[in-house]
Amino acid sequence: MDKLSIQCFFIFLVLTSFVTTVSCLSATTDSREVENEREFSYEQNKENGPSKWGKIKPEWAMCGKGDLQSPIDLTNKRVTIVTHFQKLTKDYKPCNATLINRGHDMMLRFEGEGPGSFMVNGTDEYKLLQLHWHSPSEHTINGRRFALELHLVHENINGSLAVVTVLYKIGRPDSFLRSLEKKLSVITDQSEAKKNVEMIDPKSIKIGSRKYYRYLGSLTTPPCTQNVIWTIVRKVRTVTRNQVRLLRVAVHDVNLFKL
Ligand SMILES: *[C@@H]1O[C@H](CO)[C@@H](O)[C@H](O)[C@H]1NC(C)=O
Ligand SMILES: *[C@@H]1O[C@H](CO)[C@@H](O)[C@H](O)[C@H]1NC(C)=O
Ligand SMILES: *[C@@H]1O[C@H](CO)[C@@H](O)[C@H](O)[C@H]1NC(C)=O
Repeated sequence: MDKLSIQCFFIFLVLTSFVTTVSCLSATTDSREVENEREFSYEQNKENGPSKWGKIKPEWAMCGKGDLQSPIDLTNKRVTIVTHFQKLTKDYKPCNATLINRGHDMMLRFEGEGPGSFMVNGTDEYKLLQLHWHSPSEHTINGRRFALELHLVHENINGSLAVVTVLYKIGRPDSFLRSLEKKLSVITDQSEAKKNVEMIDPKSIKIGSRKYYRYLGSLTTPPCTQNVIWTIVRKVRTVTRNQVRLLRVAVHDVNLFKL
C-alpha cells in the first residue's frame, strides 16, 4: 500500500469504529414507551402510521419485524388461559402521581417511592411504574373490540416489562375513574398537559385475579420492545360513556369505534 491508501485505510477504520460506537449507544436507549406522540401516529395512511413505525428510527425496528408483537386477539394460540392455580399476587400501596395527556393516550405516572409491585409466577417481582388507557381496546376477544383498555406497566430489576391489563365495556361507572373525573376533565383536551393528583392507591382499581390470559408479547407503541409479559384479566369490567370520553384524548381513534 502507498502512503495515501494507508492514510485512507486508517480514516476508514476510525470512521467505522465511530459508527459502531454510535449505534451501540443508541441500542441501549430506553426500552420503555415513547412519551411524545408527534413522532408516530395511528393513522394508517400517514408516513408515520403503524405500518411504518419500524422504519422511523433504528431503535424502533422491532415494530416492523418482531415475531412477538402485541396486541393480538386473545383466541390466538400464543395465549394461555391461567385459572385458579396461580392467583395474581399484587402488593400495591398509595403513591404520589401525575396525570399526563400524552397526545395518544392518558397516563398516570407514579413518582418517588413507587406504588408497589406485582409478582409473576409468585417469585419474580415487577414494580408498578405507570398506568394508561387506550380507547377502543387494543386486544380483542374473538374479534370483539371493547370500549376501553387499561394497562398497568411494571418493570423488574433487569428492566424487563410486565403489563397487567383490564378490558371494559360500556355500563355502570368505574369507581377508580370516578375518583379521577374532575382532574381528568382539566387536561382531557390538552395535549402534553400534566396535573399532579397527589396520593393515588392502585389497590382501589378493580382488577380481579381469578382467571387471566397470559402471553409473551411487546409494547403496543414504539419502540415495540419485545419479551413483555402480558396478563389480561378475563373478567370484562364496565365504564360509562362519559368516563371513556374523558380518556379519549386524541381524534385518531374516534372513527374506529363509536361510543
Ligand atoms: C406530590 O408531588 C408534587 C409534585 O412533585 C408535590 O408538589 C406534592 O407536594 C407531592 N405530594 C405529596 C403528598 O407527597
Ligand atoms: C411461569 O411458570 C410456568 C410453569 O412453571 C412456566 O411455564 C412459565 O413460562 C412461567 N411464566 C413466566 C412468565 O415466567
Ligand atoms: C436478572 O438477570 C440476572 C443476570 O442475567 C439473572 O440471573 C436473573 O435471573 C434475572 N432476574 C430476573 C427476575 O429476571
